[in-house]
Amino acid sequence: MALLPLALLCAATLGAAEPQLFEPEPFTSAQLRGTDPFEEAVEEPVRSEKWLRDISRRTKNHFKKILQPLQTPIVQEYQVLQILDGYVNYTMQLVANATGHDVVWNRTGRWLSEEEPRALKQDLPPRARYINRMLIYLNKEMDVVWNLKTMVDRKRWGVGNVITSSPYGPHGEHPERWRANGSFPLPKAAPNSTILLQDKKINLVLRVKADVEEYDNKYAQQLQADYESLVHNINDASQKISDLRGRLWKMEDFAQQFIVLPSGVWNKIDAN
Ligand SMILES: *[C@@H]1O[C@H](CO)[C@@H](O)[C@H](O)[C@H]1NC(C)=O
Ligand SMILES: *[C@@H]1O[C@H](CO)[C@@H](O)[C@H](O)[C@H]1NC(C)=O
Ligand SMILES: *[C@@H]1O[C@H](CO)[C@@H](O)[C@H](O)[C@H]1NC(C)=O
Ligand SMILES: *[C@@H]1O[C@H](CO)[C@@H](O)[C@H](O)[C@H]1NC(C)=O
Ligand SMILES: *[C@@H]1O[C@H](CO)[C@@H](O)[C@H](O)[C@H]1NC(C)=O
Repeated sequence: MALLPLALLCAATLGAAEPQLFEPEPFTSAQLRGTDPFEEAVEEPVRSEKWLRDISRRTKNHFKKILQPLQTPIVQEYQVLQILDGYVNYTMQLVANATGHDVVWNRTGRWLSEEEPRALKQDLPPRARYINRMLIYLNKEMDVVWNLKTMVDRKRWGVGNVITSSPYGPHGEHPERWRANGSFPLPKAAPNSTILLQDKKINLVLRVKADVEEYDNKYAQQLQADYESLVHNINDASQKISDLRGRLWKMEDFAQQFIVLPSGVWNKIDAN
């Protein structure tokens, strides 16, 4: 699971007081304990040039106020993806049971959205740096969300490949020669979650509205741009997750058709 390495990476960048990724309220709870993990005891250097000035205390508090609530939709997206992961696992197990072969989905073994570590802006003045740390933290969480989405989608593809490339049914063209390659018990129960129910389509698409402000200060401008881009990223992910749910429903239908097909008879299902 990617959570651990990322949490460690964060701990290395942000210091020992780093909250766990996906703690529901990492900002407020840490503040209650009086150890705000994004705060650093740093003297503010004297900056004479106006354009190098730190953001004001008021601007910092404003950014804090608009960034903190973004944790909630990110956690929600991650939780929905975990449910979808359970769902695709189920579909995969059905197909593996029918064919007697593992569904290959992770051949390359890479994280698709593996990125260069974001360059830390070392030269930011303290208040801007504080907000920047919050942004980095939330962006790292979004990376974990996208990775899980990629993984679920790969599993879906893996199932589709098996179905599409087995036009003679689960035991192939010559079922008398078929041998199971191991033991693939049927899953005990279908996943149980209302998010998956087709007849009550829960809307997964978020439309988080960015709070738009204009600033003269160049750090505030950059932070505002990063903030808006994070909001866009969150909304975009929710749309893609919603699409993925629809594709998983379709794949589940294909799988249900496939597993009951007679082997040795041409019944090609195009599932990709
Ligand atoms: C799906 O299966 C993988 C391994 O096969 C497992 O690590 C993961 O926890 C499962 N997901 C869920 C939501 O059960
Ligand atoms: C995917 O494959 C790689 C390499 O084969 C492996 O290290 C990794 O744990 C696999 N990931 C999952 C989720 O199975
Ligand atoms: C059979 O299973 C083994 C190990 O479980 C795996 O290495 C091998 O690739 C499988 N063969 C096929 C044809 O799926
Ligand atoms: C499929 O599932 C059933 C019930 O769990 C089991 O008896 C059977 O052996 C499984 N098939 C394979 C190929 O593992
Ligand atoms: C899901 O499980 C809960 C408790 O395990 C049960 O009360 C509920 O009826 C189930 N829902 C569906 C849709 O099966």
